[in-house]
Amino acid sequence: MLATQILMDEHRVIERVIAALETAAQLLEQGQTVRPGFFLDAADFIKGFADGCHHRKEEGVLFKAMVAHGVPDRGGPVGVMMDEHEQGRSYTQGMRQATQSWLSGDLSARSAVIANAHGYATLLRQHIRKEDNILFPMADRVIPTSEHAQILVDFEKVEHEETGAGVHEKYLAIAKKLEDEMKG
Ligand SMILES: [Fe+2]
Repeated sequence: MLATQILMDEHRVIERVIAALETAAQLLEQGQTVRPGFFLDAADFIKGFADGCHHRKEEGVLFKAMVAHGVPDRGGPVGVMMDEHEQGRSYTQGMRQATQSWLSGDLSARSAVIANAHGYATLLRQHIRKEDNILFPMADRVIPTSEHAQILVDFEKVEHEETGAGVHEKYLAIAKKLEDEMKG
């Protein structure tokens, strides 16, 4: 199995949460009731799963292997992906802070919740498209097949040593809950 397949499967989970987040932001924009906790739960998912389980595998394992096989770490596609991960973190932080202001009674903060939610969704959709269509095929080309087994082992280490056993499953359940909530 190619290591990139695991990352692509995780992209599908992240996309489900992005779709739910976009729906929630649209409803709020239309003046409908959305619980503020939805945006905090989405921010927790993004921090724990997208940035925790997933981006750690990319930044800490896959991108490193690509760089070891001659892909430049700055200025090239890997550098762009790292910058976009950083932009994603700042949208998530912005969404969390605005939601907290909203919870403290500042109703005008809802517009910043909406802007950060849409900003994150738009960024991540195009980011995932680039990884799936450009970066991962490049990884499959430059990393010898014989090294993929080791990458899978290193991914497991990220799951169990850095992220924690069972955490991945916990976030899959949160993704489903967020998705179901927006399906009504
Ligand atoms: Fe990714």
